[in-house]
Amino acid sequence: MGRNFFVGGNWKCNGITEEVKKIVNVLNAAADVPPKEKLEVVISPPFVFLPHVKSSLRQDFSLAAQNAWVRKGGAFTGEISAEMLVDLGIPWVILGHSERRLLLKESNEFVAEKVAYALSQGLKVIVCIGETLEQRESGQALIVVAEQLKAISGKVSDWGNIVLAYEPVWAIGTGKVATPAQAQEVHADLRKWLKSHINPKVAETVRIIYGGSVTSANCIELAGQPDVDGFLVGGASLKPEFIDILKASL
Ligand code: G3H
Repeated sequence: MGRNFFVGGNWKCNGITEEVKKIVNVLNAAADVPPKEKLEVVISPPFVFLPHVKSSLRQDFSLAAQNAWVRKGGAFTGEISAEMLVDLGIPWVILGHSERRLLLKESNEFVAEKVAYALSQGLKVIVCIGETLEQRESGQALIVVAEQLKAISGKVSDWGNIVLAYEPVWAIGTGKVATPAQAQEVHADLRKWLKSHINPKVAETVRIIYGGSVTSANCIELAGQPDVDGFLVGGASLKPEFIDILKASL
């Protein structure tokens, strides 16, 4: 298949300097983490800690910002531009996270514009998609994620710079993880969508990772699904158990 496993640690809006130092120490001390060719690890601290983490984190792990502004920087108080991230040497950015879609009303179109701009500046993007509980219960899950994917698909010229993160909203931070079968069903459907709307090669090579209450207790079974190519981990990425999650694909 040729898709190397990808694990992102999204720290969200957590941590103060001392805690950040401790997490970095745990990551740096982790032994027996699969090599880069087999596992891509991308850590996503809050913006303010990016320079510190970049200078102190082990070299085989990479970094992502948790957001970027939709166009070139300028008079946009409180925003961080893609140019700034590139300048700091941050290769990845997370866009379309459901917390931003829901709390900050980011629409499919807005997320798509952000993806386009980030890619144009040379960033690689972890694009988050996923349905709410209400949408799942009304049988809309596959329709919703296809719409979210469709919105960005026209903006992507090189799918090698995209990782898709399927994160059902009802599983995020709730302790209620999708079953391996539920995750596999959506991931396979996304791949099918890519095959018919983009091309078979993209469908075969794009990594589709799962996010939503991933822990050391459930990661191995999820990782065993044929279309689950990794995880985007929130809460557990702040804890030592993240190291076990990094080894889920072994
Ligand atoms: O970006 C990560 C996801 O929102 C998952 O968060 O692992 O705390 O459920 P969680």
